[in-house]
Amino acid sequence: MDTIDPQKYQPAPDAFAGRIILVTGATAGIGRAVAEALVRLGAQTILLGRRTQRLDALHADLAALGPEPAVALLDFERAQGDQYMALTEQIESRFGRLDGLLLNAGILGDRSPIEHYDIGVWQKVMHVNFNSQFILTRCLLPLLRKSDDASILFTTSGVGNRGRAHWGAYCASKFATEGLMQVLAAELTNTKIRVNCVNPGGTRTRMRAHAFPGEDPLTLLEPADIVSTYLYLLGPDSAGVSGQRLNCQGSSDA
Ligand SMILES: NC(=O)c1ccc[n+]([C@@H]2O[C@H](COP(=O)([O-])OP(=O)(O)OC[C@H]3O[C@@H](n4cnc5c(N)ncnc54)[C@H](OP(=O)(O)O)[C@@H]3O)[C@@H](O)[C@H]2O)c1
Repeated sequence: MDTIDPQKYQPAPDAFAGRIILVTGATAGIGRAVAEALVRLGAQTILLGRRTQRLDALHADLAALGPEPAVALLDFERAQGDQYMALTEQIESRFGRLDGLLLNAGILGDRSPIEHYDIGVWQKVMHVNFNSQFILTRCLLPLLRKSDDASILFTTSGVGNRGRAHWGAYCASKFATEGLMQVLAAELTNTKIRVNCVNPGGTRTRMRAHAFPGEDPLTLLEPADIVSTYLYLLGPDSAGVSGQRLNCQGSSDA
C-alpha cells in the first residue's frame, strides 16, 4: 500500500460525504479555504464566525458548491458559557453528532517585547486563541464521542514550539494549544477520536500581512494551495493518527 503524503493528499471523491465538520474562523483566510474544500467534497459543514454579515455572505458563496452549510455565530472574545452550550444543543438536535472540529480562528495581537506587552491585548489573544478553543472543544466532546471516526484539529504556528522575540501572546497561545492537543490526544487514546495540530506555514492571508507588513504577498502560497494537510487530518484516511503536529509546507516551521 502506498504511504500517504499529507501535503499532497487528494481525498477520494466520497471521502467526506456525510461527515459533519465544524470550522472556526471560517469567514476568512485559511478557514474559509478549508470550509470551501469541505463543502465541495460533500461534507456537511458548520461555518462558525463572529459577524452575521460575513457568515451570510460566506453561506451564499458556498451553498451552491455542495451540501448547504449551516452557520454558527459566536464571538470568541465575548461569548459566555451559555452561548457555547446553546451551540452544542443546536448541533445535537440538528445533526446528532460531530465528526470533525477544526479550531482555526485566531488573532495576532501585538508584536512587541514582553516588557512592554499590553496586558489587555495579552488576555484577549490568550482567550481567543486558546481558552475559547478549549471551551468549545470541552462542550463538543460528547458529540464527537457519538461519531464512529472523529477528528479534532488544532491550529499551531512556526512559533508554537519554539519561542521567538516579539511574538508575545500569539507565541504563548500556540505553545498552549500544542500542549492542549497533546494532553487531549493522550486522554483519548483507544477512543474513536483523534487529536492533532496543523501548522499552515506562511500563507497569504490578512493575518500574515499584518505580521509581516514588508513582505511581498505574492511570494506566499494562497490558502487554497495548502488545504491538503487539513483534509488529510480531518478525513477518514488519517484514522489512527493522533498526537501529531503536521506542517502544510515542507518540513520548515517558518
Ligand atoms: N496565515 C499564516 O501565515 C499563518 C501561519 C501560521 C499559523 N496561522 C494560523 O492559522 C489560523 C488562520 O489564520 P489566517 O491567516 O487565515 O487568519 P485570518 O485571515 O486573519 O482569519 C482569522 C479568522 O479568525 C476569525 N476570528 C478572529 N477573531 C475571532 C473571534 N473573536 N471570534 C470568532 N472568530 C474570530 C476571523 O473572523 P473575521 O472574518 O470576522 O475577522 C477569521 O475568520 C490562525 O490560527 C493562525 O494563527 C496562520
